Amino acid sequence: MANSCISGLFLFFALLASHGIVELEASHHVYRNLETVQSANQHYRTSYHFQPPKNWINDPNGVMVYKGLYHLFYQYNPKGAVWGNIVWAHSTSKDLVNWTPHESAIFPSQPGDINGCWSGSATILPGGKPAMLYTGIDPENNQVQNLAVPRNLSDPFLRQWVKSPKNPLVQPNAQNKINASSFRDPTTAWLGPDKKWRVLIGSKVHRQGMAILFKSKDFVNWVQAPAPLHSAQDTGMWECPDFYPVPLRGQNGVDTSVNVPSVKHVLKVSLDDTKHDLYTIGSYDSSRDVYVPDKGSVENDSGLRYDYGKYYASKTFLDSIKDRRILCGWLNESSSVADDIKKGWAGVHAIPRQVWLDKSGKQLIQWPVVEIEMLRANHVSLPTKLLKGGSVVEVSGVTASQADVDISFEIPNIDKAEAVNPSWTNPQVLCSQQGASVKGGVGPFGLLVLASKGLSENTAVFFRIFKGQNKYVVLMCSDQSRSSLNQNNDKTTYGAFLDVDPRHQSLSLRTLIDHSIVESFGGGGKACISARVYPTLAINAAAHMYVFNNGSEAVKIEKLNAWSMKKAKIN
Ligand code: FRU
Repeated sequence: MANSCISGLFLFFALLASHGIVELEASHHVYRNLETVQSANQHYRTSYHFQPPKNWINDPNGVMVYKGLYHLFYQYNPKGAVWGNIVWAHSTSKDLVNWTPHESAIFPSQPGDINGCWSGSATILPGGKPAMLYTGIDPENNQVQNLAVPRNLSDPFLRQWVKSPKNPLVQPNAQNKINASSFRDPTTAWLGPDKKWRVLIGSKVHRQGMAILFKSKDFVNWVQAPAPLHSAQDTGMWECPDFYPVPLRGQNGVDTSVNVPSVKHVLKVSLDDTKHDLYTIGSYDSSRDVYVPDKGSVENDSGLRYDYGKYYASKTFLDSIKDRRILCGWLNESSSVADDIKKGWAGVHAIPRQVWLDKSGKQLIQWPVVEIEMLRANHVSLPTKLLKGGSVVEVSGVTASQADVDISFEIPNIDKAEAVNPSWTNPQVLCSQQGASVKGGVGPFGLLVLASKGLSENTAVFFRIFKGQNKYVVLMCSDQSRSSLNQNNDKTTYGAFLDVDPRHQSLSLRTLIDHSIVESFGGGGKACISARVYPTLAINAAAHMYVFNNGSEAVKIEKLNAWSMKKAKIN
């Protein structure tokens, strides 16, 4: 453990840092003739986050449990490291940690999906039979909705899928006037009180994002409801909607069709414009098929997000083995397309998270599934310790490039916090202006991960506390500005406000580090920030982890537990 003054170092590296943002690929742009050539440099491959051996991946699809196995399907380009030629690749797992690959499950073969098999969801029909609704791209490049079911229900791996001869089941036409290029990503269907199935499909009309509702008695013939389940002005295209109940109390999950007084409903939409997964909590009237977000809900890009970093196109499913609801999401690259082609792959998935409603009823809590803890090794813990302003303490004894760290802080002199400025409404902007190198009163304090010796490279995940009118404001940031000496990456700093009262609760931070992933959970899962980073020095054994405090006030490390993470068996 080494103690040293860091403010000079911070200033120096802040000056070195670049804020250049590289242009990342536009969605659904087709790159032709790009066969994968995988380079030898594979420092950024993950050890316990899901990814296939090579090529492009995006959204998780049709996640479900069948015969005691978890099934994950995902958008995959079998031909290259950029988006295109999309099929549903397939892996299964007993524990959501180790994954076995199978042949692609759904791939272009019918007119209804000849130009691509895009995102969709699983529904478990009565008798336990899974059914997949997914978007296909037809010969005219229209987005249409299709059905596929397992060929052999006695195969627990469900290796083969048969498409309905009635496909496409739903398509844009002159009557429904649905925009054929904005009509995709069916949800898991649910049963209403009239015994009819309901499904949502993401869409927009001009700038009004919407979740179009369809109903069916037999899962094959679908009739559009007179109105969308929900829509919001000026939000742009809603991709990958997800709609599910959460119990008012406890951490268990319930089936998607449950609608009783003891649940609230969550509507999540993936905003195509900003690539953010936004959600509201509200009430669902299943007799009228209306969803009303709770009073005060914000429905634009500044609303509640699953994750305030890079996290998109997520989807939940009910884990009937453990009665919990699990959220799976895609972490896109922050590297340039040229670098992705060089490394031969792009896209990973976040660690599956259990989700439940916070006691306040106002937001969700997310926490990495407990199974991931089976990979923990080399436990290191730090005794309770006062961290003076301007200090850095190394956390040694764990593999810092592949680790799980859980820390909680107490603030002895919280009254010394600087006053909040009422114009600070955007936490991401605030975190960008006040990065880890900017000294404060209470904070910045937190972790420096994937850090090189000397700190010229590091990703800083930290808190700052400000004094507001009647409460303290807690800001959580993930600062990527010094994450790599390679300037061709998107190094956007991310930020979120954390609904924790630091006078009465300690402030916790858990971070999962996996070579090119820094996935952080603040306040026991009240705010999550995932980042993709590409260190050039802090790789493998040359990576270090530190706790730091760059504020003028001391903070107390109440608990610090860190583990190396073993490699999971993935694909
Ligand atoms: C979201 C998305 C979906 C679409 C799929 C195509 O990332 O654009 O709307 O179905 O990806 O791969």
